[in-house]
Amino acid sequence: MSAPSPSAGRGGFQSRIGFILAAAGSAIGLGNIWRFPYTAGENGGGAFIALYLLCVLALGVPVMLAELAMGRATRKNPVGAYTKLGGRPWAAAGGLGVVTGFGILAFYSVVAGWTLGYLWHAVTGTFARAMDAEASTALFAGLISDPVWAIVLAGAFLGLTMVVVRAGVGGGIEMASKILMPIFFVLLVALAIRSVTLPGAGKGLAFIFEADFSKIRAPVVAAAMGQAMFSLSLGMGAMITYGSYFPRDENLVVAGVSVAFFDTLIALLGGFLVFPALFAAGMEPTAGPGLVFVVMPTIFDNLPMGQLFAVAFYALLAIAALTSTISLLEVVVSYFVDERGWSRSFAVYVVGGACFLLAVPSALSQGGAPALTDFLGTGKGWLDWQSILFGTYSLVAGALLTCILVGWRWGTDAAREAIEEGGHRLPAAPLWGSLVRYVCPLAVVGILIYVVTTGASF
Ligand code: PHE
Repeated sequence: MSAPSPSAGRGGFQSRIGFILAAAGSAIGLGNIWRFPYTAGENGGGAFIALYLLCVLALGVPVMLAELAMGRATRKNPVGAYTKLGGRPWAAAGGLGVVTGFGILAFYSVVAGWTLGYLWHAVTGTFARAMDAEASTALFAGLISDPVWAIVLAGAFLGLTMVVVRAGVGGGIEMASKILMPIFFVLLVALAIRSVTLPGAGKGLAFIFEADFSKIRAPVVAAAMGQAMFSLSLGMGAMITYGSYFPRDENLVVAGVSVAFFDTLIALLGGFLVFPALFAAGMEPTAGPGLVFVVMPTIFDNLPMGQLFAVAFYALLAIAALTSTISLLEVVVSYFVDERGWSRSFAVYVVGGACFLLAVPSALSQGGAPALTDFLGTGKGWLDWQSILFGTYSLVAGALLTCILVGWRWGTDAAREAIEEGGHRLPAAPLWGSLVRYVCPLAVVGILIYVVTTGASF
């Protein structure tokens, strides 16, 4: 099989800031504002959040540096990078990442579609009038259970993603992120301030800060690990791919740590946005995937220029989601372009089209089709299952494979040299090495074995 040389003429980021923006664009998305709050809500709040932060530090940051180093050292897509560093059998590890990216994109685009639906509502003034928990729940249920809408919105979002990826991720998206991400941040801070100052918000703050560690069970630890990987875009090769475009002389440690820092900051802000408003409106934190969509409309009318806020919020949320779906599609497309010799356009059409087909059951699982809403009598819908399997377990398994490859096959000394390329020292390198070689693999294997052998419910 002749693999065309992917490093030839692949282009790359012009600067560290360009890279940070693109990588932060991938990391910051629905994972922070949508998935983080509801996962924390389902898993007990404060204790989960503390565990999540631990996972970001002990697992997320080391794996981030490992993935970026794999990408920069090989200048290849995930399958190519694993193969070059580990030999032929390791291609399967990269393949798992490609499949996972595809699986995530198929449910992510459905939720991203909801942001478009909400943007439409914001523009047409739905949020200008006061909305209580009941009205907001009804609005959400109406939107997601309408099969035609759900499918059209998901398709529209995938279409947008395909347009950008087909054109190549050039200056446009980088420039846009540069301007829009700071606006998004300011808006989030403003909305979070409104949320924490609502009457009755105190319970939400208590929920965030009260760390009852007796709630921590193996599936909760797995959820925290998975959420850290999901939010940082790790475990499926997005950061290998983006690392492959990273300039050789730039400081990879600063870049990787900055991305992790901003991503975590925004997730925490998401928590401060959602929980106080949720308790103020008298809702339950265990509401699942609809959480942020149901909570937000209850606070817009409480704000001066609430409608403007609503429009800006959903527009920016959709953009944040778009910079993430781009990276998901890019991983799969780069595999077919690099390893199978497909043209970029052809790969975009085939992968995007197939992904749309897989998105349909997810779109229908929110009330449109009862068999998918309560899938096989598990009490969870198809979308939830896709999120758990691809967005938690596959990613955790992918992070494990990265640690084994980098820690034991490529070797932490060689990987460290790759990280330090350009003359930038890796602080606490022995600590990084031990985390990658021992701590992360043992933690991940321990949890996976525990969950599988005890049949602990997800
Ligand atoms: N990190 C993205 C988010 O938080 C989702 C994502 C996961 C993107 C994995 C790429 C790879 O929304």
